[in-house]
Amino acid sequence: MESTSKVALITGGSRGIGEAIVRRLAHDGYIVYGTYNSNPEKAAAIANELKVEGKIAHFKKMDISSFESIQQGIDEILAESGRIDVLVNNAGITKDTLLMRMTEQDWDDVLNTNLKGAFLCCKAVARPMMSQRSGRIINISSIVGLRGNAGQVNYSSSKAGMVGLTKSLAQELASRNILVNCIAPGYIETDMTDKLNEDQRKAFSEKIPLKRAAKPEEVASVVAFFAHSDSSYVTGQVIAVDGGLAM
Ligand SMILES: NC(=O)c1ccc[n+]([C@@H]2O[C@H](COP(=O)([O-])OP(=O)(O)OC[C@H]3O[C@@H](n4cnc5c(N)ncnc54)[C@H](O)[C@@H]3O)[C@@H](O)[C@H]2O)c1
Repeated sequence: MESTSKVALITGGSRGIGEAIVRRLAHDGYIVYGTYNSNPEKAAAIANELKVEGKIAHFKKMDISSFESIQQGIDEILAESGRIDVLVNNAGITKDTLLMRMTEQDWDDVLNTNLKGAFLCCKAVARPMMSQRSGRIINISSIVGLRGNAGQVNYSSSKAGMVGLTKSLAQELASRNILVNCIAPGYIETDMTDKLNEDQRKAFSEKIPLKRAAKPEEVASVVAFFAHSDSSYVTGQVIAVDGGLAM
C-alpha cells in the first residue's frame, strides 16, 4: 500500500481480472478510473461499494477498439483529475477456433481490441505522462503470447504483440521516467475461462505445478507491485502469473 492521490486507469475494469485490479488499486489509495463497454449497472455497483468503503473509483464507458472513444474518455479523465499516473491495459477478448475456420473478422476483432486497443491507450496517456515526467504502463498479456496455443492464433498473436509493445515502449519512454511492464497470466478463474467444461478445467489444473487456477486478485497484486514505487528500477519486463506453468 502506498499513500497517494495518484490516478490509475484500468481498461475492462467492470469484471474479472480488471475488476480485481480496480478494487486493489482503490484499496491502495489510488483514484481509480475503470472502463466498461457493457453492463453499466455492474460498473456503478463496484464504484458504489468502493465509495462505501471510503475509496474512490469512477467508471467511464469506452470502446477500446475505437480511437475516438479512447481519446474522449482519456480527455474526460484528464479534465477531471489533471493526470494519469498508471495505465493498465487489461481489456481483451477471445474468438477461438482453428486457423482453417478462423475468419478475417475473427482475426481483426481480436487484434483490434487486444493489441491495437492497448497501443491506442498507450498513445493517449503517453503525452500527459511525459509532461509529468513519470508514469506506469502495465500490459496484461497471457502465457499463450509466450508459448502459443492451438486454436488461438489470433489471441496468442495479439498477446505476443503486447510483449513487443511493452519492450519497445519501455525503451522509448524510459528517459521520461515512464516504466512499461507486462504480466502474462496463466489460467485465471474469470468469465473468460468459465467457458471451459469440468474435464478441460481438470486437465488444465493438472499441468500447472501449483495444481490450481488463480484468483483474479493474484494478478491484481502483481499489478500493484508494478504500479508501486517498490518497482522503480523495473521496466520492459514480463512476469508470468501462472502457477509455474510456463517455466
Ligand atoms: N482469465 C484468464 O485465464 C486469462 C489468462 C491470460 C490473460 N488474460 C487476459 O486478462 C485480461 C482480462 O481477462 P478476464 O479473464 O478478466 O476476461 P473477461 O472477459 O472477464 O473481461 C474482459 C474485460 O474486457 C472488456 N472488454 C472487452 N472488449 C472491450 C472493448 N472493445 N472495449 C472495452 N472493454 C472491452 C470487457 O468488458 C471485460 O470487462 C484480458 O486481456 C485477457 O486476455 C486472462
